[in-house]
Amino acid sequence: MSAVLLGVMATAVVPASAAAEETLRTVAAARNLRVGAAVNDRALETDNGYRDKLKYEFNSVTPENAMKWGNVEPEPGVHTWAKADAVVSFAQENNQMVRGHTLVWHGGLPTWVSDGSLSDQELRAALQRHVETTVKRYAGRVAVWDVVNEVLAEDGTLRQSIWLRRLGPGYIADAFRWARAADPSAKLYINDYNAEWNNPKRAGLYNLVRDLRAQGVPIDGVGFQTHAMIKESASEPLPLTQLRSTLQLFAGLGVDVAVTELDVRLKLPVDESRLAAQGEVYRRAAEACLAVARCVSLTMWSLTDRYSWVPSSVPGWGAAHPLDENLAKKPAYLRLRSGLKDRDFTSNAVASHSGRCLSLSGTQAVQAVCGKDQRLLFHRVATKTYQITDPTGYWCLTAGSQNTLTRTPCPASGDDQRFEVRPSGDGQQLVSLRSSRCVVVRDRSTAAGAVLEQAPCSGTPVWELTDMPGHP
Ligand code: G3I
Repeated sequence: MSAVLLGVMATAVVPASAAAEETLRTVAAARNLRVGAAVNDRALETDNGYRDKLKYEFNSVTPENAMKWGNVEPEPGVHTWAKADAVVSFAQENNQMVRGHTLVWHGGLPTWVSDGSLSDQELRAALQRHVETTVKRYAGRVAVWDVVNEVLAEDGTLRQSIWLRRLGPGYIADAFRWARAADPSAKLYINDYNAEWNNPKRAGLYNLVRDLRAQGVPIDGVGFQTHAMIKESASEPLPLTQLRSTLQLFAGLGVDVAVTELDVRLKLPVDESRLAAQGEVYRRAAEACLAVARCVSLTMWSLTDRYSWVPSSVPGWGAAHPLDENLAKKPAYLRLRSGLKDRDFTSNAVASHSGRCLSLSGTQAVQAVCGKDQRLLFHRVATKTYQITDPTGYWCLTAGSQNTLTRTPCPASGDDQRFEVRPSGDGQQLVSLRSSRCVVVRDRSTAAGAVLEQAPCSGTPVWELTDMPGHP
């Protein structure tokens, strides 16, 4: 990609009316990260609400299907670029990077390629022509290519695809070299799924990238698709615990890394606890990428449940994306956005007079024995002002009338879920924006289970936030 293009694309497009609102795009841009979405070409054409979300929430896009070989060359030599062009033009209009997807894959092929009618030699020539034609067409406009997609089997050996069977293992190196020659400025990626954790496939991918680079094959990056799932409930171990270490491992090979197709599908029907667990997984993905300097982009495989590959491909599953079918923000969106920001933090809040922790594990906010269930997420909403949530991010501390403190689902837009964290003595006061009163333990009780309430701030005991970073 040219330096000029990079410079232009780094600027976020924010409409004047929405200037104050933080989007995935604005928070990611502030951290020098590309946040992207797969683009459904039909929705791009027909759905204004969808287009707006795509434009304001993302600074990178990937055509979900429009650039696949079967779509751009349905008959030999007959090219149909309109849908791919539409995605690229949209991206240019909105200063977005394009990840081109995908040049060499066993899926999405035109019948004339997959039906076995070409000789090995003809097949290789057709593949070379396809790579060169496509990359040249978009040179300077597509910054990154998934050159080869899903070339590994689960056991870490090369997938027995049409390409391996007919052309032999050299097709991978060939594809990268053809792509490099066609556009020397494009970043070239190998992309795969189920390689986000320590398993034979990840080992195979690691060895493949290491060996190809040692042979001088121009691989610039490794894409981790990251199609995750919440199997049954929020209480099961959640996925993506090894995403960060995996990204770090591959960055050690001297390549860029990216999360390229993030989604977190839910076993249907959807319930609150699964949505909360999903939010946590999205947050983890953001944190993992931000923790690794060479992680350059984080792309969602659809921004909305309105358009999703999941229900038709994985029956019984769905609701995998950050916005719901009405384009409304799910906990996943909010956790993702908070994960992309640098000033949220997770901490226990320990009452200085009792040594017990603020707990949102029941309807009523109480103090409890400190433990992992009392780890609170402080989600920054304004200077020194936070939503204070339980560890899932689903429940927010909420100031009610009558000085009550309960938990209600996040987010409500009003001040009842907003608290100022105000330094006082050796700790912090938690001051409700709704009442200007402080969070205290009723009657200064030291008992576990004692109820929290709002009270005038003067002279109240304070909370020690064990892991609060310095305020800006
Ligand atoms: O456009 C036609 C439509 O005209 C026709 O009526 C309909 C009937 O089935 O099919 C439509 O095409 C479908 C296309 O999605 C658009 O919806 C194809 O059948 C269907 O196979 C295609 O599925 C795509 C799949 O890749 C295969 O290409 C999914 O949308 C897309 O999300 C999925 O993406 C893949 C990545 O490329 C690689 N990694 C995994 C990821 C998820 O499977």
